[in-house]
Amino acid sequence: MAEQAMLQVRHLCTSFFTEKGEIRAVDDVSLEVPAGKIVGIVGESGCGKSMTARSVMGLVKAPGKVKSGEILLDGRDIAALSEHERCAVRGSEISMIFQEPMTSLNPVVRVGRQVEEALILHEHVKRHEAEERAAEIFEAVGIPDARKRLRAWPHQLSGGLRQRVLIAMAMICRPKLLIADEPTTALDVTVEAQILRLMKKLCESGTSILLISHNLGVIAQVCDYVYVMYAGRIVEQADTFTLFDHPCHPYTKGLLDSVSSLRSGARILDTIPGVVPNLLHLPAGCSFSLRCGCCGEGCADLLPGLIETEPGHRVRCHLFDKEEPA
Ligand SMILES: Nc1ncnc2c1ncn2[C@@H]1O[C@H](COP(=O)(O)OP(=O)(O)OP(=O)(O)O)[C@@H](O)[C@H]1O
Ligand SMILES: [Mg+2]
Repeated sequence: MAEQAMLQVRHLCTSFFTEKGEIRAVDDVSLEVPAGKIVGIVGESGCGKSMTARSVMGLVKAPGKVKSGEILLDGRDIAALSEHERCAVRGSEISMIFQEPMTSLNPVVRVGRQVEEALILHEHVKRHEAEERAAEIFEAVGIPDARKRLRAWPHQLSGGLRQRVLIAMAMICRPKLLIADEPTTALDVTVEAQILRLMKKLCESGTSILLISHNLGVIAQVCDYVYVMYAGRIVEQADTFTLFDHPCHPYTKGLLDSVSSLRSGARILDTIPGVVPNLLHLPAGCSFSLRCGCCGEGCADLLPGLIETEPGHRVRCHLFDKEEPA
């Protein structure tokens, strides 16, 4: 990634300190979102996608804690800011659409008012101007009858419209970075396609987007670059075309196979046997070794590094780090 990155995360570690021990939800994650690009994070449930996003936002709740790492937004390390300064960055420079769309809106406040509040809080504009801007942004995100809908209550809107309201709320302060955590998971495929088109448009107008999904199909449609996460770590990263054209990690291959078998009518995701391991009891080596069809001697004992197989394409797998240098 040669372009200047809007977001640079370096060696991020976030853990939960529980009675049973330390759970490394995010373990030495480094990633970049170049300016004006859409970058995806994909992986099964419990792999640490949301915790990565929450760490960037500065919204990890106890017993979780960001232990170490740098989070550079447009070159500035926001991980080093005070909570007060961080709060100012949230909403104005970085916005997030959370995974739980139904709980993210206040049920007893009209949706227009909720969008306006974000603007009044961060830009100190007058109510009248906030209303105008809210109407404009509702139109921009494709909410029909935008002006009328400003006065709607959340329960009067469909899931797709509520998600658009959340996107409008996230966009109204024109953030540099939008983090969207599973923004289309609760929606049907037609609405999903509309929301994804909207993300592409936002990105063309200059917003950088970090898009989290367990669905490779969604990632393929809109992302420029992809990071594959497994058990808290990045296991593969590449531009989207390369990742889909020649995936290297057995886990990525398994995820891709599951997309095609689901398309051909299979109901159960059976291409990768087993489940994501309990993060309290990870093997010392590769955490995918327990489920991996290519697991060889030493895989479970020695953690593979993230090896660059070609420029911009990295993979964390012993199949790729044994070769002698040419
Ligand atoms: N409140 C908590 N207490 C202890 N551990 C937690 C807590 N929240 C998350 N974790 C741990 O962090 C790991 C990563 O969680 P995260 O929510 O980031 O997963 P995810 O990839 O977003 O999954 P999903 O696709 O289901 O949203 C979990 O597997 C879990 O072990
Ligand atoms: Mg999540």
